[in-house]
Amino acid sequence: MPSTNAIPSPLLSEATIADRIETMAREMVQTLPQDVMLVALLKGSFVFAADLIRAMHRAGMRPQVDFLTIGSYGAGTKSSGKVTLHRDITEAVEGRDIVLVDDILESGGSLRFAKDLIAARGAKTIHIAVLLEKAGKCKHPDIKGDFVGFSIPDRFVVGYGLDYANSYRELPYIGMLEG
Ligand code: IMP
Ligand code: MG
Repeated sequence: MPSTNAIPSPLLSEATIADRIETMAREMVQTLPQDVMLVALLKGSFVFAADLIRAMHRAGMRPQVDFLTIGSYGAGTKSSGKVTLHRDITEAVEGRDIVLVDDILESGGSLRFAKDLIAARGAKTIHIAVLLEKAGKCKHPDIKGDFVGFSIPDRFVVGYGLDYANSYRELPYIGMLEG
């Protein structure tokens, strides 16, 4: 297990992330209706979602936002595979165009859980926006990012909202932990 004092080696810089999010928002405005509601999956996506909604505003969109807190990792670097709902959204999604926002798409279990929940409540459309995806790791064929910031190698990454044992979320860049 890596220590939570190690300094992660940089993978994506602050400037690289910021540039890509502006481009993603311009991609989203081409495809999505104007009055979408983002459902950001917590905790990991809070930094990305905060930057994405402002980039969406600059691109001409006026999204609404809600938050769904789920967990699958426990304190380690391997997902337990079992997704738990910790806190539900408060808005109604029936008939709405929803964009699920997550930090990273790995096995797809978290987004599978969230998509099924929102679909069961009668959302009109559900799109997925993720900052990162670990290429080739998704186990759910119908779960894929409609908007993907970066495809990254199969390494455990932290920063920009992503954690290791609930540490490193405040790191302004995305880095890799050794070990
Ligand atoms: P999935 O459910 O396997 O797709 O995993 C997605 C969730 O696991 C993400 O929302 C993250 O919270 C977490 N996760 C997956 N890979 C990493 C990583 O490399 N660093 C930190 N968290 C990760
Ligand atoms: Mg997460």
